[in-house]
Order: sequence, then structure tokens, then C-alpha cells
Amino acid sequence: MNAELLLMFTLSCDRAYLYAHPERELTPDESGRYDAALSERARGVPAQYITGHQEFWGMDLIVSSAVLIPRPETEHVIETVLELARHVGGQERPPHKVRIVDVGTGSGCIALALAKELPNAEIHATDISSAALEIARANATRHQLEKRVHFHEGDLLQGLGGGFDLVVSNPPYVGESEADQVQLEVRKFEPRNAVFAGPTGTEVIARLIPQAHTALRPGGWLVFEISGTIVDSVRQLLKGWDEVSITPDLQSIPRVARARKPA
Ligand SMILES: C[S@@+](CC[C@H](N)C(=O)[O-])C[C@H]1O[C@@H](n2cnc3c(N)ncnc32)[C@H](O)[C@@H]1O
Repeated sequence: MNAELLLMFTLSCDRAYLYAHPERELTPDESGRYDAALSERARGVPAQYITGHQEFWGMDLIVSSAVLIPRPETEHVIETVLELARHVGGQERPPHKVRIVDVGTGSGCIALALAKELPNAEIHATDISSAALEIARANATRHQLEKRVHFHEGDLLQGLGGGFDLVVSNPPYVGESEADQVQLEVRKFEPRNAVFAGPTGTEVIARLIPQAHTALRPGGWLVFEISGTIVDSVRQLLKGWDEVSITPDLQSIPRVARARKPA
């Protein structure tokens, strides 16, 4: 599968072309580039960093080693936000545009999927990494969404002000103490500050929750991705919030936490 993907990348073609031309021989140049891609893969570099692309929510996104490779389970975060945003923007009919901020945007996958699905929302995205924001901006331009998402460099929600309807995040949530359970590829090649939060894994979330409380309007929602390891700590940290719930992903692993700021 990886070999096929890397061949498509080398020849800049799709799968249909590969199958339609089994007789096609590689030129020496193509052969050299294909070998180089295969040996990168053999030393563990994720295929997405070699091809520079990953699909998310039906969008082809650029990725580099400056950003986490968007994961399919993060699409559950999008589903949750869409359900809540449509409620905010529909039944309650607020007199303002729905205002959303994506904290730790990385490749921009969450902010851009939301911008695509919610044409009337005001969307902000933050990251502490300027290299990640460069990729996120490139992805926004690639999908003609550059006027829809306002990017900010900084620590979590610092300097963003208040009045948000939704704070959304896929924060770093792996603990350094569980590093040996993380795939070697992730540990070696994905950005450390995108994956690891600190010794326990809840350090970034523990700072995000009170900041989100300040940034949200009363009745607004906080939605963030978690793992099964930290689910009990997350419930503790959300004490005092309303309508706390945690939904599983397709593998039944607790994946999306949501909580409402009391009105
Ligand atoms: C798990 S990655 C998520 C990236 C992207 N949102 C996704 O779902 O694929 C976490 C992101 O948070 C950023 N980050 C880490 N600490 C941060 C902080 N204190 N403030 C803002 N962003 C932070 C990292 O640079 C990284 O891009």
C-alpha cells in the first residue's frame, strides 16, 4: 500500500493510471526518486511526510514535519462541533455570527474543515509554532479559505479576547510517562510539542480549560480531543461545567470531550 502510494507520488499520477499502465517502465530519474522515497519510508518516515499530503474531511492538505499528520479520529471533533454550531446558529438564533476558535491548529485541519462547512461563522485558529502556522496558512490558501480563518501565533488562547460560542482543540495529550507506548514513527518524526503535553498528558488541557472558560460566552461550548488514558482526569478538570459528555471513536476509545459554560 505504501509502495503504491509512493509510486503514485513519484509519477504524479493517480491509482487508476497505475493499474491502467502495468507495462509502464520507470525512467532512470523516476527510478532514483522512487528508491529514495522507499528508503525514507524504510527508515520510518511517515508516508505523508514523504508525499507532503494528507486527506482530512475530504480536503487534500499539505503536511510537513512541522505539523502533526491529521488523523481520521479528529473528524469526530468536527462532527461534534457541527452539531453544536448548527444548534447555536439555528434554534437559538444568536444576533451575531457564530464565533469559533481552534486552539493548536497545526496543519489547520480543524479550522479549515469548519470554515468549509460553516460559511457564516467567524473562525480563528491559534498555534504556538510559527512553522505550523505557515503550513496552516498555505492550506487555507490552497482551499480558498484564507479570508475565512484568522490565524494567531501564541500560547493557547492568550490575547484572543472573549465572546466565543465555541472553543475547539485537538491539544497535545500524550504523557511522557507513556512515551514507550507511542508508535516509534510518531515519537521519532512528529513534532514533540504537538504530541506530548508533559509528564501526565493533561498539562495542556489543564491550562486550556480555564482559559476556554474565560474566552467563551455564557452557554458556549468547549470541545476537545482526548485519549482513553486521560478520561478520568479530564472529567475531574471539567467539574463546574454543564452538560459534560465524552463520546467514543469508531474503536470505542473515549475521544471527544464536550462541556458547556454555565449560562
Ligand atoms: C495534537 S496537535 C493538533 C494539530 C491539528 N489541530 C490536528 O488536529 O491535527 C497539537 C497542536 O498544538 C500546538 N500547541 C502545543 N502547545 C501549544 C500551546 N501552548 N499553545 C498553542 N498551540 C500549542 C502544537 O504546535 C500542535 O500544532
